[in-house]
This record gives sequence, structure tokens and C-alpha cells, in this order.
Amino acid sequence: MKNRILTGITTSGTPHLGNYFGAIKPSLELAKKSSDSFFFLADYHSIIKVNNPQEVTSSIENIALAWLSSGLDTKNSYFYKQSDIREILELSWVLHCVTAKGLMNRAHAYKALKENNSDDKGVNMGLFSYPILMSADILMFNSTHVPVGPDQLQHLEMTRDIALRFNHIFGDTFEIPEAVINNDDPIPGIDGRKMSKSYNNVIPLLCDEKTLKKSIMKIVTNSLEPGVPKDHTNCNVFSLYMNFASDQEIEEFKDDYANGISWGDAKNKLFDKANETLLPIREKYFDLREQKDLVNDHLSDGAKKVRPLAREFIEVIRSKIGIS
Ligand code: ADP
Ligand code: TRP
Repeated sequence: MKNRILTGITTSGTPHLGNYFGAIKPSLELAKKSSDSFFFLADYHSIIKVNNPQEVTSSIENIALAWLSSGLDTKNSYFYKQSDIREILELSWVLHCVTAKGLMNRAHAYKALKENNSDDKGVNMGLFSYPILMSADILMFNSTHVPVGPDQLQHLEMTRDIALRFNHIFGDTFEIPEAVINNDDPIPGIDGRKMSKSYNNVIPLLCDEKTLKKSIMKIVTNSLEPGVPKDHTNCNVFSLYMNFASDQEIEEFKDDYANGISWGDAKNKLFDKANETLLPIREKYFDLREQKDLVNDHLSDGAKKVRPLAREFIEVIRSKIGIS
């Protein structure tokens, strides 16, 4: 069966280990086994939260470099900026008109802001209908599999609902996509909450060794002294280590915890493993970022490849709804 993967990252800050393990790495692995792959920068999503143009522009560059440094092959995939494909916004409107408001009321991101906030303060309409723009990103290319972190599962369920609703009203049009989720739990940030650009708790993917070490040393732990056995479950240092280490190394680290490893030593072990994995990505990043116009060239080539597909499909959609 033809399978087409698609995923996007919002351009609202520095790419981090959560993005890498939740989206970039599994997507690049899945791409090797898929017929087509679409990777894009969700720049229209970022303005929901970020009103600083320089921040959006520099995030576009950094998130693009994160993909390229992690091994994305632009010759064998579609790599583009959401805002270059204007038809996505056109589709977003069409999908708005088949989406029940009640479905959006249930979105986690909206519900979290709405709590104890009966006036919807701080909620713009972009945030409220965010899952519909995300559905347009996915449905525009009839993707079959969407690799994302566990925080995005609800948005994928909403996308399926919206696609089914459209198909029910206007006849079979959209593929019903599936989420592909690697880890049940999100990668924790240095404060133990989900690592996120919005929480200022990230370990950056693209940084020098010193910054990596500094971020790892800041991970919050409890105050148990060296020599006291420690519980590896629910431990941020341990959870992060699991993403970098082999099964055998994980077992050895469990023993270290049982034998009372100090937090300093545990963090050093995490740093050594993380540094080993991230070194080739970092070296590539340092090289690519010196190449002026590289990101723009890739993205404009991507737009040229992707836009004809979107143009053709939006015509099909327009004729289904009676506007052609
Ligand atoms: P952020 O929360 O930092 O703004 P995004 O929302 O842009 O990150 O997420 C882009 C992709 O990275 C999504 O697939 C998302 O699920 C994944 N992702 C982000 N943070 C994490 C995390 N802490 N653990 C696992 N996946 C994550
Ligand atoms: N909403 C996703 C996030 O913030 C980013 C995103 C936008 C996305 N459109 C998408 C992810 C389409 C997968 C598919 O994490």
C-alpha cells in the first residue's frame, strides 16, 4: 500500500530534544520505509503565540537547519514552509465550515487556557481553531501516517473527525490519516514538565558542548545525597538517558541508581551519551549554517515541488463543494 508520511514543527523558538525524539528522528526513520514524505515548517501556526517577527524568522531558519542537520534528504522528500502553500489556508476555511464548534471547545490547548477564565482572556481565534489549520496541513496532501509526539494525539483524532465529516457530506475526498506515536510519554524538560518551547525548559538540539552540559546540569532532581539508593522511575535524568542509550546501558544505569549514584555523576553520564549522539548533528549544523541562502534555496525548491500538488487538489475540493 502507498503510504505517505507528513509532519510539521511550529516555528516558535529553538528546536529541542522533544522535537527531535518526538518528531524529527521517528519521521526520518519512517521516511525510509514510506513511498512519500512531507516535512514542513508550521510558520502560520507560530503567529498564534509569537508576535515578534524576528523570532519567527530566526525560528524558521533554525528549525529548517534542525531537519537538515538531522539527515533530511530534500531530494527524496518534500520540504517546505506552510506559508508558501497558500492553498492550505483556503482548505482551512473550507474545513472550518464542516467543523463543529463543540469539537474545538474540547481541544486541550484551548481548555487549558479557558480554565478559571470565563471571558476567554488571552485566547485568540487562531488558538481556538488551531486544530483546523493543522487538519488542513495534513489533509491537503492526503497523508496516511503522521509521526508526532504524544501531545498531538488529540489533534490527529480531530483531523480524522473533520475528514470523515467532509467525506460524509461531499463524498469520498480525503484519506483518513493515522498518528504514529513512538513514546507514550513526552520527553521531559529540565523542570520535569513536558519539554516545550512555550515553557522555557528545553535542552536545545543545536548547541555547542558547553551549552548542552549547562542545560543538563540544570535538570531538576530531588535532594537525595550520594550513596543513597535512588528510584529511576519518574526521574527526568533517567527518562532523558533512555532516549540515547542501548538496552544494556539502560540496565547498567538502573544499577547505578540502586547503588546510590550522585546526581552530579548521573548527569555527567547523561551528558556523555547525549553528546556522543548529538555530535554529528551539531557538526553538520555548524557547517550548514555558514552556507548563506542554503535554507532559502531548499525551501523555495520545496515550494516549487509542493505547490502544484496543492493547486491540483484544491480544484478537486472546490468542485466538490460547488465552487469551481
Ligand atoms: P513545542 O511544544 O516546543 O512548541 P511543537 O509543538 O512545535 O513543540 O512540536 C513539534 C513536534 O515535536 C510535535 O510532533 C510534537 O508532538 C513534538 N514534541 C514537542 N515537544 C515534545 C516532547 N516534549 N516530547 C515528545 N515530542 C514532542
Ligand atoms: N501542531 C503541531 C505542534 O505544535 C505542529 C503541526 C502543525 C503539525 N501542523 C501539523 C504536526 C501537521 C503534524 C502534522 O506540535
